[in-house]
Amino acid sequence: MAAFKATLCWLVIFISLGNFLVFSSFEFQVGGTQGWVVPPSNDSKVYNDWASENRFQVGNAIRFKYKKDSVLKVTKEDYKKCNSSHPTYFSNTGNSVYMFNHSGSFYFISGAAGHCEKGQRMIVKVMSADEESLSSGKSDGYRAAELGVSKLVFVQFVMFYVASLVF
Ligand SMILES: *[C@@H]1O[C@H](CO)[C@@H](O)[C@H](O)[C@H]1NC(C)=O
Ligand SMILES: *[C@@H]1O[C@H](CO)[C@@H](O)[C@H](O)[C@H]1NC(C)=O
Ligand SMILES: *[C@@H]1O[C@H](CO)[C@@H](O)[C@H](O)[C@H]1NC(C)=O
Repeated sequence: MAAFKATLCWLVIFISLGNFLVFSSFEFQVGGTQGWVVPPSNDSKVYNDWASENRFQVGNAIRFKYKKDSVLKVTKEDYKKCNSSHPTYFSNTGNSVYMFNHSGSFYFISGAAGHCEKGQRMIVKVMSADEESLSSGKSDGYRAAELGVSKLVFVQFVMFYVASLVF
């Protein structure tokens, strides 16, 4: 019985952890294995193409991996001009994580000389909760994911209920 309790306890912790990960810390890696680099000249829109194919939500984060470079969040105007003189976020650690704490557009550029002009820049559109529910009808994949989450919540609820009876 003790072993059963221990197992159950771990199961609850494990499921809660999974739940936490699903909701709050989904992380996107910019540029896949290449990371944050100057894109090839025949593919200069690679970051914006990638960003528009993904669905960013408040609470999600993006990770930039790079060498001898930097990542800056700037205003829309500075993004257009590749002006890196007054970023609202700056990092040059080589491994930067930026978390989206509100919806709207986020403008990122490289701070290395000439890189932004060559296409190392990206606009990320982060959806608000309203936009999410409006657009969720369009994508079956997304609906399936949502269903997965609510199932998870249900399972967790049951687990907590069972746990409360046992302990
Ligand atoms: C760009 O050029 C490289 C090498 O010439 C090629 O392998 C790649 O498919 C091209 N990419 C695009 C998007 O055209
Ligand atoms: C960048 O913006 C600052 C302040 O708005 C301005 O003084 C500077 O000349 C700009 N630099 C470039 C390269 O446009
Ligand atoms: C989001 O984060 C930025 C920088 O950390 C901060 O200045 C801003 O107040 C935050 N916004 C919200 C809505 O929490």
